[in-house]
Amino acid sequence: MSSAFDFAAASGRGHGKIILLGEHAVVHGRPALAAGLPQGVDIRLLGAGPGERRVPAGVDARLEEVLRLAARLGGLPDELGLALQIEGDLPIAVGLGSSAALAVALVRALAAGSSEALDDTQVAARANQIEAIFHGRPSGIDVTTAARGGVLHFRMGPPLEHRMLALGRSLDFLLIDTGTQHSTATTVGSLAERAAASPATHAPLFDAIGTLAEFAEICLLRGEVHGLGEAMTMNHGLLRTLGVSTEELDAAVAAALACGALGAKLTGAGGGGVVLALLGPESEGLAEALAARGYTTRTARLAAGAVA
Ligand code: MEV
Repeated sequence: MSSAFDFAAASGRGHGKIILLGEHAVVHGRPALAAGLPQGVDIRLLGAGPGERRVPAGVDARLEEVLRLAARLGGLPDELGLALQIEGDLPIAVGLGSSAALAVALVRALAAGSSEALDDTQVAARANQIEAIFHGRPSGIDVTTAARGGVLHFRMGPPLEHRMLALGRSLDFLLIDTGTQHSTATTVGSLAERAAASPATHAPLFDAIGTLAEFAEICLLRGEVHGLGEAMTMNHGLLRTLGVSTEELDAAVAAALACGALGAKLTGAGGGGVVLALLGPESEGLAEALAARGYTTRTARLAAGAVA
């Protein structure tokens, strides 16, 4: 079988993502909203010595294990030597889904090399098993978004459910870099422990986040940016109460709101990383105002009506 593996074809890409509403609560069964970013991770596989798993040095100690599992899930023989090359334009460990994008890109590269036809759902299911190496208990929202792109409603289930959303109007966001990084495994794991120890105080907060996600979905479909912004800011307050925000994230949210954002929240696992701020007609000059306060920002646009 190894001779049948086509290294010339063995490349793949996964999208980065933003969680619009509902991170963490989604791990506890509530609905969430996410969107793919144009930025992503590209994987190319090259041949290596028999049975060898060669990964880039200094990127992540778990990559060799990741490559081994991905090859096994793809049904490739252990003797097939694989060397992994990673490229792309997505910052890592800031909540933009780099590990999910990598897992999706790797599954696609292996499938392309073995001429295996996988649809996005199959890619995401395989990639989620790989994501579990990076963070023990992934809901599947990151890999689903990394595979599909577009804007989606997601619920972990079982059964897992996602549906693509057509936005009522285009939305513009700023991603505000707090200069801090996070570990998804740590924030998800420690919140899960606190929730298990005290379900009566955590369940209502998860419920409230789920309700905000449902409200925000209606806003997205109708193009009601003010309602969406309000829901995002409230979602941030709940995430803060759940203990996954930081001083830096709270300060960036406050700065964005003070400078005219319609709403702002951490995005992804929290514990560091980027803040997502929604722009509206009254947000002109937001990027410049944040730059004057020392923040680096990048823009993200979600196009109206698009269903990927
Ligand atoms: C991370 O992008 C989103 C979390 O909800 C974890 C997950 O859903 O797997 C924090």
